[in-house]
Amino acid sequence: MPTIRKISAQEAIIVRHPVLRDGKPIESCHFDGDDLTTTQHFGLYESEILQGVISLFENIHPLFEEKYQMQIRGMAVLENNQGKGFGKLLVTHSEQILKTKKTDLIWFNARENAVGFYQKMGYEIIGNSFDIPNVGIHYVMWKKLGR
Ligand SMILES: CC(C)(COP(=O)(O)OP(=O)(O)OC[C@H]1O[C@@H](n2cnc3c(N)ncnc32)[C@H](O)[C@@H]1OP(=O)(O)O)[C@@H](O)C(=O)NCCC(=O)NCCS
Repeated sequence: MPTIRKISAQEAIIVRHPVLRDGKPIESCHFDGDDLTTTQHFGLYESEILQGVISLFENIHPLFEEKYQMQIRGMAVLENNQGKGFGKLLVTHSEQILKTKKTDLIWFNARENAVGFYQKMGYEIIGNSFDIPNVGIHYVMWKKLGR
């Protein structure tokens, strides 16, 4: 049975690196705000091994009017364990946590190839695609959280 618990930014980077920044310097896996007290990192463990990570940042996107917005960053599941429902568990867990913490809306910059994954969980694209240099084509995606 997979379990999800709070982890540090350093632990999140262990999974971010091979999945999101493969072959790039480890420094490229550090995100601004990783160590803020308002930022939360969660890890999914199976057999006590960290398999997937997600990070939640307090961040307002100018496209949205909601007062309490959170941004998902660094969503990653180790390649050998993708497609087993771990990513979905991490997003669902985050939504449940944020619902209890006044969040009105979740948004993020989704990689083109992950758009279908997020759409399955009710997230929508807003606006046109854009390029993040060295990472690729992205879309802003969002979902309102009912409280
Ligand atoms: C995208 C990612 C986080 C998804 O996590 P995962 O554990 O592989 O996905 P899950 O097994 O939880 O999939 C949940 C559902 O989404 C579907 N799905 C998963 N990845 C998908 C994709 N890339 N496109 C479309 N659908 C996808 C699954 O088939 C599953 O559907 P079901 O509920 O009907 O069975 C993971 O594959 C990953 O780390 N990919 C590489 C890094 C990446 O792109 N991160 C996102 C950056 S924005």
